[in-house]
Amino acid sequence: MDRDQLIDLTRRAVKLARDKTTDLTPAEHTVAAATYTSAERLAQDTAMLLASPQLVGYVSELPRPGTYCTKTVMGRSILLTRGSDDTVRAFDNVCLHRQSRIADGCGAARRLACPYHSWTYDLDGNLVGVPGKEGFPGTRSGSAKLTELPAAECAGFLWISLDRDAVLDIPAFLGPLADELESWGIGRWAPLGEKVLDCPINWKLAIDTFAENYHFATVHKNTFATIARSNCTVFDSFGPHHRLVFPLNGILDLENIPEEQWDPLQNMVVIYALFPNIVLSCTIANGELFRVYPADAPGRSITVHQNSTPLDLSDESTAAGAAAVFDYAHATVRDEDYALVTGLQANLESGARENLVFGRNEPGLQHRHQTWSEAI
Ligand code: FES
Ligand SMILES: [Fe+2]
Repeated sequence: MDRDQLIDLTRRAVKLARDKTTDLTPAEHTVAAATYTSAERLAQDTAMLLASPQLVGYVSELPRPGTYCTKTVMGRSILLTRGSDDTVRAFDNVCLHRQSRIADGCGAARRLACPYHSWTYDLDGNLVGVPGKEGFPGTRSGSAKLTELPAAECAGFLWISLDRDAVLDIPAFLGPLADELESWGIGRWAPLGEKVLDCPINWKLAIDTFAENYHFATVHKNTFATIARSNCTVFDSFGPHHRLVFPLNGILDLENIPEEQWDPLQNMVVIYALFPNIVLSCTIANGELFRVYPADAPGRSITVHQNSTPLDLSDESTAAGAAAVFDYAHATVRDEDYALVTGLQANLESGARENLVFGRNEPGLQHRHQTWSEAI
């Protein structure tokens, strides 16, 4: 984001904080409980995700030619590589022999050997070695290849499609947010690993927890609310995506400082909701990524939480500090947000009430649910 844009967002945030209000939609919005509990909706949601571009990580997870990483996306194991030509490619991480996973984790390698019988692949996905090859007269190394999926890097992130025939055009998909996300640089910061939450909540309910800060003063009384305001959000939508600015508690101090001296990023957390299942939480110190997936039942989902840092992790105490910050943020989501909405999901499934309501002060929730219903 350029400085003019940041100053403009900061002005809007200061005004909302001063007036003790938040950006408001014209009306409340009602959603059926079945949105979170019906098997039919789960099937529609799953089809929507399979048809959408999937952000799967930071470009810094493939830092140079000859590196690879693995991801689980909608239950599918995916191998991503950066070949000697610097191109990012994605494959099903499934051996052509008996379907073992070929790689785990991430690293650097010229070739990857399947851990089961050592069939070997180059980073372009070609099968280049078969031990005891007289056993496989029908499989010729040199022509056999892993199943390739569409892949791209854009805005600092790695993208794939689970649909082999899809054409990925991420700049068009992100619109003006492509440059804005790139400008943060968080995709190039040092990655701090992945933490996975397998929870008894619908995937949309998991995402809902990131879509408003109305709950900060209650759910996060002793954590986030000690640094950020509650029920105070600057909201903007960009097609199916949106951005929320959460002002920090000290934002009104800016009223006594000339604008030229403002340091906007010291006074806000910026949340991006990318269609359909991605949440990014950006500050000057952390680039958090949440990839949320439906699972095998409406009341279950998988959240993969990643974080990246601009700090130099080669220093041991800096690395330990960054890991501690990631642990803290993760524990807050797990023990405060997700713990609370586990009870909410049970209520939805009990059939006690048919609907729930999103307030005028919850524009992020309204926007998410409207774009999802339009897409299915
Ligand atoms: S399953 Fe991969 S070599 Fe046998
Ligand atoms: Fe929360």
